[in-house]
Amino acid sequence: MKLTIIAATRNQHKLKELNRLLKGTNLRLRSLDDFPAMPEVVENGRTLEANALKKARAVAKALALPALSDDSGLFVPALQGKPGVRSARYAGPKCDYAANNRKLLQAMRQFTGRQRRAYFATTLALVWPGKKSLTWTGRLSGKITSAPAGGNGFGYDPVFIPTGHQVTLAQMSLNEKNKISHRSRALAKAALYFKKQLEKKTLKG
Ligand code: IMP
Repeated sequence: MKLTIIAATRNQHKLKELNRLLKGTNLRLRSLDDFPAMPEVVENGRTLEANALKKARAVAKALALPALSDDSGLFVPALQGKPGVRSARYAGPKCDYAANNRKLLQAMRQFTGRQRRAYFATTLALVWPGKKSLTWTGRLSGKITSAPAGGNGFGYDPVFIPTGHQVTLAQMSLNEKNKISHRSRALAKAALYFKKQLEKKTLKG
């Protein structure tokens, strides 16, 4: 039997990635699209972990179901960690992905070589209603390109080349991205936890 968990997001790109990654497990994700009355949670934490826990706690409390949330960002050491936790709103409160990428490339224009290093990070938080919470973090290292390339994916994918690759994340298929992504690495850690719990039979489907 499948264990239902609410994915605390309405982002269709993320849901698609999460669902693909959970294929073949005993977990079934339902998204906030199934619960339209659930209000948006303000992401004002100073870390990915604080934001992820805030979102998952709000959903677990409101719906009395286990909730899984993720908060991600792109971190550039040469920019003191920016865009960081504010990755979604880097170019302004209502900006789009293209505006964020333009602002990033502009901010990076004086940097060359190793100064163009960056990494994506995802922190996943799982909150059981009224019980414990857990977090897992995954990272993907790479570098920022000098111009956007590729039409797949979302966010900063067109300007990020993962270490050991020659093309941006936006030039990869979703399957290729999922093999290496920060989200899949965090989720692999979470999946290991679920596997262990199920072996111990502490989770019933
Ligand atoms: P969120 O808080 O997890 O929604 O992520 C914040 C922002 O980080 C997104 O709006 C994207 O701009 C960026 N981001 C997160 N994950 C990815 C990714 O896999 N590729 C490209 N950009 C991402």
